[in-house]
Amino acid sequence: MALNIKHLLGLKDVSKNDIQLILDTATTFREVLDRPIKKVPTLKGTTVVNLFYENSTRTRLSFELAEKRLSADTLNFSTSTSSTKKGETFKDTVRNIEAMKIDMIVVRHQSAGVPLYLTKISNAAIINAGDGRHEHPTQALLDMYSIREKLGKLNGVKLCIVGDISHSRVALSNIYGLLTMGAQVSICAPPTMIPKNIESFGVKVYHDINKAIAENDVLNVLRIQLERDAGTTIPTLREYRNYFGVNSDLIEKNNRDILILHPGPINRGVELSSEVADGPYQVILDQVTNGVAIRMAVLYLLGTK
Ligand code: CP
Repeated sequence: MALNIKHLLGLKDVSKNDIQLILDTATTFREVLDRPIKKVPTLKGTTVVNLFYENSTRTRLSFELAEKRLSADTLNFSTSTSSTKKGETFKDTVRNIEAMKIDMIVVRHQSAGVPLYLTKISNAAIINAGDGRHEHPTQALLDMYSIREKLGKLNGVKLCIVGDISHSRVALSNIYGLLTMGAQVSICAPPTMIPKNIESFGVKVYHDINKAIAENDVLNVLRIQLERDAGTTIPTLREYRNYFGVNSDLIEKNNRDILILHPGPINRGVELSSEVADGPYQVILDQVTNGVAIRMAVLYLLGTK
């Protein structure tokens, strides 16, 4: 089986069959991660560049680890130690890296559309590791994998994305991917954190966190993105926490069976209490482990086309 896509730029146009193939392939690689020797020779001879123009812990390290687990050669680019600091343009940087005969580029950038632009100036397979407020497809894939692992299915699952929807690339990729897989997707946030016309995507909107918890199987709780001016859409973080923060009292009052996801990094005590972030309802560190398997699957499927 092969993917119908050459690059992974987002989940908007990725078919159900392709998402299914990535999730099923990740199941095989997840098993590799539990072996004493966590390495397979699948991408021996393939060179992958991790081109990160924006900070990251989980995505950058898990892509690098996934590449190493697949025996690929990896190069890590970061703006702070590169000639970008001397004024080299993005295009020149990419063309110089490409001249070193690389095969794949994993890119994170603060500007939406950079992964698409890379497909125009490079012959490498491009994987979007998060572009501005646009998409973060491997995050949504690992979220779907984690839900399927716990609930056994995605079709018919009721999932609510809580928080800063308007600044979130995770929300958009979750909405596209989960709707494609037959889940019922809703969002819960203050009106100032919800993009206009969101209902046209086919999602229900809540403004009451009690109702969102009571009526859903899964909450995907998002970080308040202060670095993207989210602070200007709410009066104070304390007020946000009081009305939309998820804590164990709310869960125990409304739905003790709920599954809590968070993409990280967490603002503890704002969108999620520490009790919930470390408690029995969440699968946050499972998401991180599954992220390595998902990234191995994406690298393998695109790297061996
Ligand atoms: N979830 C996520 O993308 O985390 P990082 O920003 O640490 O990669």
